[in-house]
Amino acid sequence: MKFEEKKFELSGREVILRPAKHEDAQTLVDYLKTVCGETRFLLCDPEEIKYTAESEVGFIDGKNDAEDSMLILAFVDGEYAGNCSFEPVGDRNRARHRADLGIALFQRYTGLGLGRLMLTELLDGAKKCGYEQIELTVVGGNDRAYHLYESLGFTECGRIPNANKYKDGTYADDIRMVKEL
Ligand SMILES: CC(C)(COP(=O)(O)OP(=O)(O)OC[C@H]1O[C@@H](n2cnc3c(N)ncnc32)[C@H](O)[C@@H]1OP(=O)(O)O)[C@@H](O)C(=O)NCCC(=O)NCCS
Repeated sequence: MKFEEKKFELSGREVILRPAKHEDAQTLVDYLKTVCGETRFLLCDPEEIKYTAESEVGFIDGKNDAEDSMLILAFVDGEYAGNCSFEPVGDRNRARHRADLGIALFQRYTGLGLGRLMLTELLDGAKKCGYEQIELTVVGGNDRAYHLYESLGFTECGRIPNANKYKDGTYADDIRMVKEL
């Protein structure tokens, strides 16, 4: 489902939330490489990002055309700040009522209330798509994200100990959270 562009004000800054366009493809690839290097809380190391502008065009079309997915890009005072999305957990009949959510902002746009704003819109979109529940994985120690999800009504429902092993030899759990829509 394609998100309809909306404008907000956040602490005196203009925020535009809108769907992705083909011309955003390279920006999305560059963003992924940057955000994956900024935090250990995303799913991989920056060098593992193999997407290209061409492959991102397909990704953008897939998100905009699908009735069961949504991608929202955020711009703060005209600068790209990050995105959030949901998609079906799987294509089996028994899982069709469940969506999976993801979000990542550049570090310089965190802590402004943007994540809350974006997720509020995204959750509304998931509800309109007919999903009954929405789920996510958050890495243990990502206290800001955990707090935000909990305050939006997500509850912890499971944990995989030491799901992530980092180059420095340390580990972090994966925490699964769910919210009824
Ligand atoms: C996680 C993320 C999406 C949150 O978005 P955000 O815009 O930074 O979050 P917001 O400013 O909307 O809200 C953060 C909330 O956490 C609180 N918070 C901040 N730091 C915290 C901490 N260390 N412990 C607990 N709560 C914290 C804030 O007070 C705020 O809560 P409040 O609205 O009740 O006051 C964003 O920080 C991000 O993209 N981080 C990097 C990538 C990432 O971790 N993605 C999530 C993967 S699951």
